[in-house]
Amino acid sequence: MQQRNLLLNPQQRDQMRAAAQFNSQLMDAVRPHVVPGVTTDEIDRLVHDYTLDHGHTPACLGYKGYPKTICTSVNEVICHGIPNDRPLQDGDIVNVDLTTIVDGWHGDQSETFLIGEVSDEARRLVQVTFDSLYAAINALRPGSKVIEIGRAIAKVVRPEGYTIVRDYQGHGIGQAFHQDPGIPHFPTPGARFETLRPGVCFTIEPMINQGKVDTVLDKSDGWTVRTKDGKLSAQFEHTILMTEQGPEILTSTKEGPQEGHRF
Ligand code: MF3
Ligand code: CO
Ligand code: CO
Repeated sequence: MQQRNLLLNPQQRDQMRAAAQFNSQLMDAVRPHVVPGVTTDEIDRLVHDYTLDHGHTPACLGYKGYPKTICTSVNEVICHGIPNDRPLQDGDIVNVDLTTIVDGWHGDQSETFLIGEVSDEARRLVQVTFDSLYAAINALRPGSKVIEIGRAIAKVVRPEGYTIVRDYQGHGIGQAFHQDPGIPHFPTPGARFETLRPGVCFTIEPMINQGKVDTVLDKSDGWTVRTKDGKLSAQFEHTILMTEQGPEILTSTKEGPQEGHRF
């Protein structure tokens, strides 16, 4: 993390808007391809080529040595799943996380997709995770404390019996991929003192587990994070700009699930 309380001026806000808008256009292009039989490598290739064809830069490729363009986190994978040659199967849930650099500014978002017919339990997990992201966004006003995000997510998630991942969090974003403020998705003491002033840009990206909260990092690839108990995990992410009028979702898609969507 770097640079505390970085506030964007109007011109910088427009640059963030443009970066996030390209990223969401990319998500719209990807969505029809996330279906049974397609490999996550094929989705990765599509995102890579689309990004380059439009003159932009994949943010993840080479980031701290990450080997691919996107993260694809299937079933018990919480985050940072590396695309591979396994075809998506009926009943899978898969999070596709896209980040692009447009003229030096980052757009970052993810969605969890239901592949074919999934179990009622998987569908419910994805629904609750999606709803928790919007509950967090709706809880915010100019000058809100970061802890309001964790409180709103906990209020949606905990009554359902699910757990909120603590080991990975949202982040400030701009010309850096990850910067202050850190955005925990559960209430923490430190988040009481962090203020979301107009001009702050950040992500909210709750990772919600069906079972226990514990995470395991795959030692063989150094990236893939799984639930320790092997149960499912889901995630949704938006890039958000706090403005004088309230939070603005910069990564809204035209075709994707909108607030209130039923999976
Ligand atoms: N897109 C992820 C996030 O939401 C970060 C992925 S970093 C990578 O912050 F190196 F794993 F790609
Ligand atoms: Co992010
Ligand atoms: Co992301």
